[in-house]
Amino acid sequence: MADRGSTELTNPLGALTLDQLRRRTSMKWRRFPPDVLPLWVAEMDVPLAEPVVRALTEAVALGDTGYPSGTRYADALAEFAAGRWGWRIDPDHTAIVPDVMLGVVEMLRLVTGAGDAVVVNPPVYPPFYQFIVHSGRRVVEAPLGEDGRLDPATLAPAFRDATTGGRPAAYLLCSPHNPTGTVHTRDELSAVAELAGRYGVRVIADEIHAPLVLPGAEFVPYLTVPGGENGLALLSASKAWNLAGLKAALAVAGPAAAADLARLPEEVSHGPSHLGIIAHSAALTEGGGWLTGLLSGLDANRLLLAELLAERLPAVRYRPPEGTYLAWLDCRRLGLGDDPAATFLEWGRVALNPGPEFGTGGAGHVRLNLATSPENVAEAVHRMVAALD
Ligand SMILES: Cc1ncc(COP(=O)(O)O)c(C=O)c1O
Repeated sequence: MADRGSTELTNPLGALTLDQLRRRTSMKWRRFPPDVLPLWVAEMDVPLAEPVVRALTEAVALGDTGYPSGTRYADALAEFAAGRWGWRIDPDHTAIVPDVMLGVVEMLRLVTGAGDAVVVNPPVYPPFYQFIVHSGRRVVEAPLGEDGRLDPATLAPAFRDATTGGRPAAYLLCSPHNPTGTVHTRDELSAVAELAGRYGVRVIADEIHAPLVLPGAEFVPYLTVPGGENGLALLSASKAWNLAGLKAALAVAGPAAAADLARLPEEVSHGPSHLGIIAHSAALTEGGGWLTGLLSGLDANRLLLAELLAERLPAVRYRPPEGTYLAWLDCRRLGLGDDPAATFLEWGRVALNPGPEFGTGGAGHVRLNLATSPENVAEAVHRMVAALD
């Protein structure tokens, strides 16, 4: 893959000081008082990739801040997807959407009606619940197995319940999975597609974390598995290059869902920001080197956390994530009740995401954001230990 950013291979985690990060005005750094170490919401403590800075700076200097035009984002994703995953995306089967979650809502509107069911796999990214309910659909839970993986034994009955009486239903697949960091295998996704086909459930795959797959695992795009042809996927550069504030995402239709995506109202394309599209496109076409550096840093951080927990908090169960920059910690043996994050915040001054917000299976857990310096990972464990004294 042509990638002018491929020389930028250094780990960007730790490049910014805590003083610099505390000057940020985004949610991660402003929600809690300054004595709290914030390792919660999925923002990364990194400087932007140089090609992204360059593209944005040029656009601003030129006053290129109008409305988006053309298929630049889809072309950039198609090139990235072909190079990384061997996935051929047809830009004609894509649509720009404001962000992944609003894209999910639009996809739900295409394939379901008011009151229809949407299956999710808890513990899962809490806004899945909020956006499904906000869009007038209802949630049906199919919990992950104890091993944190997709479980046909819960999916099949959930699909059956969701489609009772022949109603349309959707399945919002999180791939890779937030918060467990599970990267679904081709076999697992093929089994999902087979089940979805059997029950007539439409699959919407949230693949926002796809570029963030760590050594040892391989991302498989849902639309490439047998039976995935009538699926819809959502992708974005926002997680992997820390661009959530620069709104843009892409919906991609499998060949048998292209007619559905073609029904997307034109006004949805008014939501994404032109600057967002410029930034995301630069990340995908020229930010491969930066991403490589990031992934090496995340790989080191997930192992560092394993070592620190084994040494200092052996009662906490932790399966290092295969993808994402999130660590899902089972703290039930600490005896801190359903919401250990409350104890860690109050007594340790470290902000982690409370497990119960992730739905069934979340109680007694916390989610820790590994996209920070190794020093902050160590400091977080130190603060968690201190909270127990
Ligand atoms: C699985 C998943 N989907 C969607 C989002 C949010 O994406 P967006 O800001 O593009 O709506 C996140 C953010 O962390 C996420 O983890």
